Amino acid sequence: MRAPDENPLDWPAMNERSASRTASMVAAYRARATERPDALISDPWARALAGEEGEAIAEAVDRMMPDRELWVAVRTAWLDEQIRRFVAGPGGHAQVVVLGAGFDTRAARLATPGVRFFEVDHPASQREKLTRLGRLSGYPVEAATYVECDFEHHDFLERLLARGFDVARPAVITWEGVTMYLAETAVRHTLSRIAFGCEPHTVLLFDHLMKKIVDASRQHETEQAARRLVQDLGERFVFGVNDPLPMLYEEGFRWVQSASFDELCLNLTGSYERSREFRFQRVVAASRRPPSR
Ligand SMILES: C[S@@+](CC[C@H](N)C(=O)[O-])C[C@H]1O[C@@H](n2cnc3c(N)ncnc32)[C@H](O)[C@@H]1O
Repeated sequence: MRAPDENPLDWPAMNERSASRTASMVAAYRARATERPDALISDPWARALAGEEGEAIAEAVDRMMPDRELWVAVRTAWLDEQIRRFVAGPGGHAQVVVLGAGFDTRAARLATPGVRFFEVDHPASQREKLTRLGRLSGYPVEAATYVECDFEHHDFLERLLARGFDVARPAVITWEGVTMYLAETAVRHTLSRIAFGCEPHTVLLFDHLMKKIVDASRQHETEQAARRLVQDLGERFVFGVNDPLPMLYEEGFRWVQSASFDELCLNLTGSYERSREFRFQRVVAASRRPPSR
């Protein structure tokens, strides 16, 4: 294991078969956010799952973008709240699908009688997660059904169906911190499979970057450094969209709500700082038919 003070930019790039290292970073942020006295989230497993590598990457990113921990906490808090509301609501959302799960622990944290959790992830990331979960005592590994899928090459819905997902029943599908790593064709394919292949009240919850964060031609020092770091970890920012509504409409969605990370943060913490640049990242809830709650 590398020492935390080594520069992750010097670490060897990972090939595309490697487990996601940004997933370890996100877990490290969740661990820290959980340990704050005014915590917005609670993930008791995150510290162990992040490992030293996750902490080292988070520390390196902190030096460029000091608000990333808050950003992750806000996103996770919003998603947790949405999942709880849909699962407890009158719409019968008794299936939760976590796309690009990384070290997400919702299957354990939000476990609810009668609700089935599925985790879909790149095979390399999922295997690494199961290895790390195997070292944790007390984690209910059986809380989720695990589905290996590369969104660039496989049809996630076919794989879910093979593991017992029921397309006749509404689901809550989360896609947290994933769209930015995918080609637009993979994003659109996934959207269209959810809109047309799942029960129409199924709701998709995801976040996306705006184009300027992804656009390598932008001469913004911090963003260039962040892009370079992610790239050196083997996970390039590929996809960004300023207004996802046309794409969502084209791929079959007819109910859409969205908010900026600034709005989420203000609502959850009562604070706003323009310098965080949270206005360039947004969350979206979308479904084919209005999902009743
Ligand atoms: C930044 S991590 C986010 C993980 C998790 N959703 C979270 O918020 O903690 C990105 C995730 O996207 C997944 N991912 C990236 N590209 C993928 C692909 N082509 N197919 C499947 N999963 C992919 C990675 O395996 C990783 O789990």
